[in-house]
Amino acid sequence: MSTTRKVALVGAGVIGTQHGLVISELADRIELVAVADVEIDRAERLAAHRGGRPYPSLTAALAAEEIDVVVVCTPTGRHAEVAVEALEAGKHVIVEKPAEITVQRTDEIIKAQQKAGTLVTVISLRVTLETNRQSIGVITGAYESARTDVSAGSLSRAATRRAFAPFEQLRWSDQH
Ligand SMILES: NC(=O)c1ccc[n+]([C@@H]2O[C@H](COP(=O)([O-])OP(=O)(O)OC[C@H]3O[C@@H](n4cnc5c(N)ncnc54)[C@H](O)[C@@H]3O)[C@@H](O)[C@H]2O)c1
Repeated sequence: MSTTRKVALVGAGVIGTQHGLVISELADRIELVAVADVEIDRAERLAAHRGGRPYPSLTAALAAEEIDVVVVCTPTGRHAEVAVEALEAGKHVIVEKPAEITVQRTDEIIKAQQKAGTLVTVISLRVTLETNRQSIGVITGAYESARTDVSAGSLSRAATRRAFAPFEQLRWSDQH
């Protein structure tokens, strides 16, 4: 049985490109199978560089690919709809910071996670703040060591790497 996590990246902009780099560095454990962006040329460019097939939306990617984890790199305030769609499809989700811009939209993610029973984590360098810890409250602890063991300049990449740690630690048999 394959233990490689299949990842769909949604939003191939500035930070999505960074995620693509990190995913490519974890290629023995994580496979980028889809890159979705409403600007299809961005999806095509990133997919050509880092792997996976380009799609104009998460909906299209979900219809075409076997996906375990969806990484949400859409603009701030546009995370909930993508995260909720992924959760409703039964996927694990990594959301770029900030999770959302209102409590109501953040609650939509939390409710969808509780219903799906899959994992959600939020990329944040400020995970020790109690509010942040509780805001989505699933597995942000995986990031904490990134705050101390990384030299200046590489923190962003390391924090992104840490986001994938919970999925690496999960045994596939626990989930399926
Ligand atoms: N840029 C950074 O250094 C940085 C750092 C930390 C966190 N973030 C966070 O990452 C998120 C993205 O930031 P960015 O700078 O990469 O933005 P960006 O504008 O460069 O990229 C966002 C991409 O998402 C695409 N998009 C928009 N709606 C979409 C949808 N529904 N489906 C698919 N694609 C869609 C856009 O076409 C665009 O290519 C923001 O929430 C931001 O706060 C960014």
